[in-house]
Amino acid sequence: MSVNKEIKKVTTHTLQKMKSNGEKISMITAYDYSFAKNFDAAGIDVILVGDSASNVMAGHETTLPITLDQMIYHAASVVRGTHRSLVVVDLPFGSYQSNPKEALISCFRIMKETGGHAVKLEGGEEVLESVKKIIAAGVPVMGHLGLTPQSIYKFGTYNVRAKEEAEAEKLKKDALLLQEAGCFAIVLEKIPAQLAKEVSESLQIPTISIGAGKYCDGQVLVMHDLLGINNEFKPRFLRQYADLHQIITNAVQQYIKDVKSADFPNDQEQY
Ligand code: KIV
Repeated sequence: MSVNKEIKKVTTHTLQKMKSNGEKISMITAYDYSFAKNFDAAGIDVILVGDSASNVMAGHETTLPITLDQMIYHAASVVRGTHRSLVVVDLPFGSYQSNPKEALISCFRIMKETGGHAVKLEGGEEVLESVKKIIAAGVPVMGHLGLTPQSIYKFGTYNVRAKEEAEAEKLKKDALLLQEAGCFAIVLEKIPAQLAKEVSESLQIPTISIGAGKYCDGQVLVMHDLLGINNEFKPRFLRQYADLHQIITNAVQQYIKDVKSADFPNDQEQY
Protein backbone atom coordinates (compact mmCIF):
# COMPACT_ATOMS: atom_id res chain seq x y z
CA MET A 1 0.00 0.00 0.00
CA SER A 2 1.37 3.40 -0.87
CA VAL A 3 0.53 6.63 0.93
CA ASN A 4 -0.14 9.44 -1.56
CA LYS A 5 2.99 11.51 -0.79
CA GLU A 6 1.80 14.30 -3.09
CA ILE A 7 -0.72 15.20 -0.39
CA LYS A 8 1.01 17.22 2.33
CA LYS A 9 -1.95 17.95 4.58
CA VAL A 10 -5.42 16.71 3.74
CA THR A 11 -7.92 19.58 3.59
CA THR A 12 -11.57 19.80 2.60
CA HIS A 13 -10.30 20.92 -0.83
CA THR A 14 -8.21 17.76 -1.12
CA LEU A 15 -11.35 15.68 -0.61
CA GLN A 16 -13.15 17.66 -3.30
CA LYS A 17 -10.25 17.03 -5.71
CA MET A 18 -10.27 13.34 -4.82
CA LYS A 19 -13.94 13.10 -5.78
CA SER A 20 -13.23 14.91 -9.07
CA ASN A 21 -10.32 12.54 -9.81
CA GLY A 22 -12.29 9.44 -8.84
CA GLU A 23 -9.90 8.70 -5.95
CA LYS A 24 -11.70 7.09 -3.01
CA ILE A 25 -11.50 8.74 0.42
CA SER A 26 -10.45 6.69 3.47
CA MET A 27 -11.79 7.68 6.89
CA ILE A 28 -11.56 6.00 10.31
CA THR A 29 -12.61 7.02 13.79
CA ALA A 30 -10.09 7.70 16.57
CA TYR A 31 -10.48 8.98 20.10
CA ASP A 32 -6.95 9.27 21.48
CA TYR A 33 -3.41 10.42 20.69
CA SER A 34 -1.73 7.04 20.17
CA PHE A 35 -4.19 5.50 17.72
CA ALA A 36 -4.51 8.79 15.84
CA LYS A 37 -0.72 8.89 15.46
CA ASN A 38 -0.72 5.37 14.00
CA PHE A 39 -3.61 6.06 11.61
CA ASP A 40 -2.09 9.35 10.46
CA ALA A 41 1.27 7.68 9.78
CA ALA A 42 -0.49 4.84 7.92
CA GLY A 43 -1.85 7.46 5.50
CA ILE A 44 -5.54 7.71 6.36
CA ASP A 45 -7.18 10.72 4.70
CA VAL A 46 -9.69 11.67 7.40
CA ILE A 47 -9.85 10.92 11.13
CA LEU A 48 -13.30 11.28 12.65
CA VAL A 49 -13.52 11.92 16.37
CA GLY A 50 -16.92 10.27 16.42
CA ASP A 51 -19.49 10.51 19.16
CA SER A 52 -19.29 6.70 18.93
CA ALA A 53 -16.73 7.39 21.69
CA SER A 54 -19.83 7.23 23.88
CA ASN A 55 -20.15 3.53 22.95
CA VAL A 56 -16.62 2.28 22.38
CA MET A 57 -14.71 4.42 24.89
CA ALA A 58 -17.27 4.98 27.65
CA GLY A 59 -19.39 1.81 27.31
CA HIS A 60 -22.75 3.55 26.88
CA GLU A 61 -25.49 1.83 24.88
CA THR A 62 -26.06 4.91 22.68
CA THR A 63 -24.22 8.04 21.53
CA LEU A 64 -26.57 10.31 23.49
CA PRO A 65 -24.77 10.60 26.85
CA ILE A 66 -21.41 11.93 25.63
CA THR A 67 -20.91 15.62 26.46
CA LEU A 68 -19.25 18.46 24.58
CA ASP A 69 -16.48 18.59 27.21
CA GLN A 70 -15.80 14.87 26.74
CA MET A 71 -15.73 15.22 22.93
CA ILE A 72 -13.29 18.11 23.30
CA TYR A 73 -10.99 15.97 25.46
CA HIS A 74 -10.97 13.17 22.85
CA ALA A 75 -10.58 15.56 19.91
CA ALA A 76 -7.67 17.51 21.42
CA SER A 77 -5.86 14.20 22.06
CA VAL A 78 -6.43 13.07 18.45
CA VAL A 79 -5.23 16.38 17.02
CA ARG A 80 -1.97 16.10 19.01
CA GLY A 81 -1.29 12.78 17.24
CA THR A 82 -2.12 14.01 13.74
CA HIS A 83 0.05 15.73 11.15
CA ARG A 84 -1.41 14.88 7.76
CA SER A 85 -5.01 13.71 8.13
CA LEU A 86 -8.03 15.99 8.21
CA VAL A 87 -9.59 15.81 11.70
CA VAL A 88 -13.39 16.04 11.84
CA VAL A 89 -15.11 16.30 15.23
CA ASP A 90 -18.68 15.18 15.93
CA LEU A 91 -21.00 17.69 17.58
CA PRO A 92 -22.57 15.60 20.35
CA PHE A 93 -26.29 15.23 21.00
CA GLY A 94 -27.70 18.33 22.69
CA SER A 95 -24.90 20.66 21.62
CA TYR A 96 -26.47 22.01 18.41
CA GLN A 97 -30.14 21.04 17.99
CA SER A 98 -31.72 23.85 20.04
CA ASN A 99 -30.80 26.78 17.80
CA PRO A 100 -28.02 28.15 15.54
CA LYS A 101 -26.53 30.20 18.39
CA GLU A 102 -26.04 27.11 20.54
CA ALA A 103 -24.57 25.28 17.54
CA LEU A 104 -22.13 28.14 16.89
CA ILE A 105 -20.98 28.29 20.51
CA SER A 106 -20.33 24.52 20.47
CA CYS A 107 -18.34 24.82 17.23
CA PHE A 108 -16.26 27.72 18.54
CA ARG A 109 -15.35 25.65 21.59
CA ILE A 110 -14.38 22.67 19.41
CA MET A 111 -12.25 24.74 17.04
CA LYS A 112 -10.53 26.76 19.80
CA GLU A 113 -10.02 24.00 22.38
CA THR A 114 -9.12 21.03 20.13
CA GLY A 115 -7.41 22.36 17.00
CA GLY A 116 -9.73 20.15 14.90
CA HIS A 117 -10.32 21.11 11.29
CA ALA A 118 -14.06 20.58 10.80
CA VAL A 119 -17.24 19.44 12.55
CA LYS A 120 -19.87 16.82 11.71
CA LEU A 121 -23.51 16.96 12.69
CA GLU A 122 -26.54 14.78 12.03
CA GLY A 123 -29.66 15.74 10.09
CA GLY A 124 -30.86 17.65 7.03
CA GLU A 125 -33.50 20.35 6.74
CA GLU A 126 -34.00 20.43 10.55
CA VAL A 127 -30.44 21.67 11.15
CA LEU A 128 -29.98 23.72 7.97
CA GLU A 129 -29.99 27.16 9.59
CA SER A 130 -27.31 26.04 12.03
CA VAL A 131 -25.22 24.53 9.22
CA LYS A 132 -25.34 27.83 7.29
CA LYS A 133 -24.34 29.88 10.35
CA ILE A 134 -21.45 27.55 11.24
CA ILE A 135 -20.09 27.66 7.68
CA ALA A 136 -20.54 31.44 7.55
CA ALA A 137 -18.37 31.62 10.68
CA GLY A 138 -15.60 29.79 8.79
CA VAL A 139 -16.02 26.28 10.17
CA PRO A 140 -16.24 23.46 7.59
CA VAL A 141 -19.22 21.14 8.12
CA MET A 142 -19.64 17.47 7.22
CA GLY A 143 -23.29 16.32 7.08
CA HIS A 144 -24.61 12.94 8.22
CA LEU A 145 -27.81 11.39 6.80
CA GLY A 146 -29.55 7.99 6.81
CA LEU A 147 -29.17 6.17 10.10
CA THR A 148 -28.36 9.01 12.45
CA PRO A 149 -27.59 7.36 15.81
CA GLN A 150 -28.45 10.46 17.87
CA SER A 151 -32.09 9.85 16.80
CA ILE A 152 -32.12 6.18 17.82
CA TYR A 153 -35.08 6.61 20.15
CA LYS A 154 -37.10 8.14 17.28
CA PHE A 155 -36.16 5.30 14.87
CA GLY A 156 -36.49 2.53 17.47
CA THR A 157 -33.90 0.27 15.77
CA TYR A 158 -30.49 0.38 14.08
CA ASN A 159 -31.96 -1.20 10.91
CA VAL A 160 -31.27 0.04 7.35
CA ARG A 161 -32.92 3.45 6.73
CA ALA A 162 -34.63 4.97 3.69
CA LYS A 163 -35.88 1.73 2.18
CA GLU A 164 -39.30 3.34 1.68
CA GLU A 165 -39.90 5.90 -1.07
CA ALA A 166 -40.87 8.81 1.22
CA GLU A 167 -37.76 8.54 3.41
CA ALA A 168 -35.52 8.06 0.35
CA GLU A 169 -36.98 11.21 -1.23
CA LYS A 170 -36.41 13.21 1.96
CA LEU A 171 -32.82 11.96 2.14
CA LYS A 172 -32.14 13.02 -1.47
CA LYS A 173 -33.63 16.46 -0.78
CA ASP A 174 -31.66 16.82 2.48
CA ALA A 175 -28.41 15.89 0.70
CA LEU A 176 -28.95 18.65 -1.87
CA LEU A 177 -29.87 21.17 0.84
CA LEU A 178 -26.71 20.35 2.79
CA GLN A 179 -24.63 20.76 -0.35
CA GLU A 180 -26.29 24.12 -1.16
CA ALA A 181 -25.70 25.23 2.44
CA GLY A 182 -21.97 24.65 1.89
CA CYS A 183 -21.19 21.27 3.51
CA PHE A 184 -17.90 19.86 2.20
CA ALA A 185 -18.97 16.17 2.45
CA ILE A 186 -21.82 14.01 3.72
CA VAL A 187 -21.69 10.71 5.62
CA LEU A 188 -24.40 8.29 4.46
CA GLU A 189 -25.07 5.64 7.10
CA LYS A 190 -26.82 2.31 6.54
CA ILE A 191 -28.96 3.05 3.47
CA PRO A 192 -29.44 0.93 0.33
CA ALA A 193 -26.42 1.01 -2.02
CA GLN A 194 -28.55 2.07 -5.01
CA LEU A 195 -29.91 5.09 -3.13
CA ALA A 196 -26.37 6.03 -2.03
CA LYS A 197 -25.28 5.73 -5.69
CA GLU A 198 -28.03 8.09 -6.81
CA VAL A 199 -27.16 10.60 -4.09
CA SER A 200 -23.40 10.37 -4.76
CA GLU A 201 -23.90 10.94 -8.49
CA SER A 202 -26.26 13.87 -7.92
CA LEU A 203 -23.81 15.73 -5.65
CA GLN A 204 -20.63 17.65 -6.41
CA ILE A 205 -19.36 17.11 -2.85
CA PRO A 206 -18.08 13.70 -1.69
CA THR A 207 -20.23 11.14 0.11
CA ILE A 208 -18.66 8.86 2.73
CA SER A 209 -20.32 5.52 3.39
CA ILE A 210 -20.76 3.50 6.53
CA GLY A 211 -22.97 0.65 5.43
CA ALA A 212 -24.10 2.57 2.34
CA GLY A 213 -22.16 0.53 -0.21
CA LYS A 214 -19.47 0.80 -2.84
CA TYR A 215 -20.73 3.69 -4.94
CA CYS A 216 -19.95 6.37 -2.35
CA ASP A 217 -16.84 8.52 -2.75
CA GLY A 218 -15.27 7.19 0.44
CA GLN A 219 -15.69 4.79 3.34
CA VAL A 220 -15.59 5.18 7.11
CA LEU A 221 -15.45 2.53 9.83
CA VAL A 222 -15.29 2.73 13.60
CA MET A 223 -11.71 1.76 14.56
CA HIS A 224 -12.80 -0.78 17.20
CA ASP A 225 -14.86 -2.64 14.57
CA LEU A 226 -12.22 -2.50 11.81
CA LEU A 227 -9.47 -3.70 14.17
CA GLY A 228 -11.61 -6.33 15.91
CA ILE A 229 -11.15 -4.81 19.37
CA ASN A 230 -14.85 -5.25 19.99
CA ASN A 231 -15.62 -8.73 18.65
CA GLU A 232 -19.31 -8.69 19.57
CA PHE A 233 -20.40 -6.28 16.79
CA LYS A 234 -20.44 -7.91 13.35
CA PRO A 235 -22.90 -6.12 11.04
CA ARG A 236 -23.02 -7.12 7.36
CA PHE A 237 -21.30 -3.91 6.23
CA LEU A 238 -18.23 -4.45 8.41
CA ARG A 239 -14.96 -5.83 7.07
CA GLN A 240 -12.74 -6.70 10.05
CA TYR A 241 -9.03 -6.23 9.20
CA ALA A 242 -7.49 -7.57 12.41
CA ASP A 243 -8.44 -9.56 15.49
CA LEU A 244 -6.99 -7.33 18.18
CA HIS A 245 -9.33 -8.85 20.74
CA GLN A 246 -7.50 -12.18 20.33
CA ILE A 247 -4.06 -10.58 20.12
CA ILE A 248 -4.70 -8.55 23.30
CA THR A 249 -6.13 -11.56 25.15
CA ASN A 250 -3.13 -13.74 24.22
CA ALA A 251 -0.63 -11.03 25.16
CA VAL A 252 -2.24 -10.23 28.51
CA GLN A 253 -2.66 -13.92 29.40
CA GLN A 254 1.03 -14.50 28.64
CA TYR A 255 1.93 -11.47 30.80
CA ILE A 256 -0.18 -12.82 33.70
CA LYS A 257 1.54 -16.19 33.36
CA ASP A 258 5.00 -14.60 33.34
CA VAL A 259 4.23 -12.47 36.41
CA LYS A 260 2.74 -15.38 38.36
CA SER A 261 5.68 -17.64 37.53
CA ALA A 262 8.19 -14.87 38.39
CA ASP A 263 9.57 -15.13 34.84
CA PHE A 264 8.98 -11.38 34.36
CA PRO A 265 11.03 -9.33 34.98
CA ASN A 266 14.33 -11.12 34.34
CA ASP A 267 17.85 -9.81 35.07
CA GLN A 268 17.93 -7.74 31.87
CA GLU A 269 14.58 -6.16 32.65
CA GLN A 270 15.61 -4.57 35.94
CA TYR A 271 18.06 -1.87 37.15
O1 KIV B 1 -19.63 8.58 15.61
C1 KIV B 1 -19.24 7.90 14.64
O2 KIV B 1 -18.37 7.03 14.76
C2 KIV B 1 -19.85 8.18 13.35
C3 KIV B 1 -19.56 7.21 12.25
C4 KIV B 1 -20.44 6.02 12.45
C5 KIV B 1 -19.75 7.81 10.92
O3 KIV B 1 -20.57 9.11 13.21
